[in-house]
Amino acid sequence: MNGPLLKVENLTKHYPFGSGLFKKAIPVIRAVEDVSFTVDAGETLCIVGESGCGKSTVARLLMRLIEPTAGRVLIDGTDIAGLKKDALHAWRRRMQMVFQDPYSSLNPRLTAGQIITEPVENYESLSRKQRQALAADLLRKVGMSPEMIHRLPSELSGGQRQRLGIARALALQPSLIIADEAVSALDVSVQAQILNLLLDLQQQMGIAFVFISHDLGVVEHIAHRVAVMYLGRIVELAPSQALFAKPVHPYTEALIAAAPVPDPTRVRLEAPVEGEVPSPINPPSGCAFHPRCPLAVERCRVEAPPLVPMADGRVVACHVRAPATVIPPKPPVAANVSFIGT
Ligand SMILES: Nc1ncnc2c1ncn2[C@@H]1O[C@H](COP(=O)(O)OP(=O)(O)OP(=O)(O)O)[C@@H](O)[C@H]1O
Ligand code: SF4
Ligand SMILES: [Mg+2]
Repeated sequence: MNGPLLKVENLTKHYPFGSGLFKKAIPVIRAVEDVSFTVDAGETLCIVGESGCGKSTVARLLMRLIEPTAGRVLIDGTDIAGLKKDALHAWRRRMQMVFQDPYSSLNPRLTAGQIITEPVENYESLSRKQRQALAADLLRKVGMSPEMIHRLPSELSGGQRQRLGIARALALQPSLIIADEAVSALDVSVQAQILNLLLDLQQQMGIAFVFISHDLGVVEHIAHRVAVMYLGRIVELAPSQALFAKPVHPYTEALIAAAPVPDPTRVRLEAPVEGEVPSPINPPSGCAFHPRCPLAVERCRVEAPPLVPMADGRVVACHVRAPATVIPPKPPVAANVSFIGT
């Protein structure tokens, strides 16, 4: 199959806010606004941004847990919104999600073995022996002892529960895993183990990841490309190395500057981002980052910057750092014009 595994086009999600009494227009929360990106097979795209910028909403839209206000999600070129029940069931097999808090997403009454095999049994019936073999194999794959097959989630540590969540996501051999803050709640050492596990599994099984994290250290470690979101929109999307070596959007720059620097030889950039994230109910005019941006000019207050492709393969939405080149309209071609007297 040519083309990306996942293609997201102009994805938008507005939530109604308030009751709209007295026939006033109901205000909306602009959780996600005109977001587009692709993910290739075996690739890791990380989504970063401050709390409330729309990362989890994008994840829920990708999984079709919520319906978009506008835009499309295509997997292998097929729009998932148009899928009928059977096709949707088959498609769900290919995309799995790992959540931040595995405890709330794991059924507390099921054993580890049952949790792992349950998704598979939604698609095919398994004998007792097959069930046991599958659960033991996946427990081993995520670095847990098959003896834990009979344990309940409450009898596992946080790191083991997160591994169990990953084992369950792997059971259907998905092409794509969406991980929303999947390691954020874990100790640094357990985090590192789980991240390395995900990287190994990606190499072995060619799985693509959409990995949502507020931890830029984690993102730098695992991302092939990074999408930076601000107030519902992507403001920069770049290959990971290029983004961390030279952020272009002032918000990306500020995020990286605000992140702890594990490498003492790496020089901090300018001052971290200041001020509160504005409300997504009434976002600032023009570029939504302008009230916090040290580079803002008058144009930023009135005109929203488009995402502009740059020479190194990234796209950036900033009037100052990535000005859109205005291509002058071509002069009309004079057809069949005869010149008199020449
Ligand atoms: N069901 C909902 N109804 C109304 N507003 C919502 C709903 N879900 C999310 N929002 C709003 O949409 C915006 C984006 O929320 P989202 O959960 O996607 O942010 P996030 O980037 O995942 O934040 P965090 O880093 O804190 O997890 C927020 O302003 C949030 O309050
Ligand atoms: S468009 Fe203007 S306000 Fe927005 S990031 Fe660029 S310089 Fe700052
Ligand atoms: Mg979230």
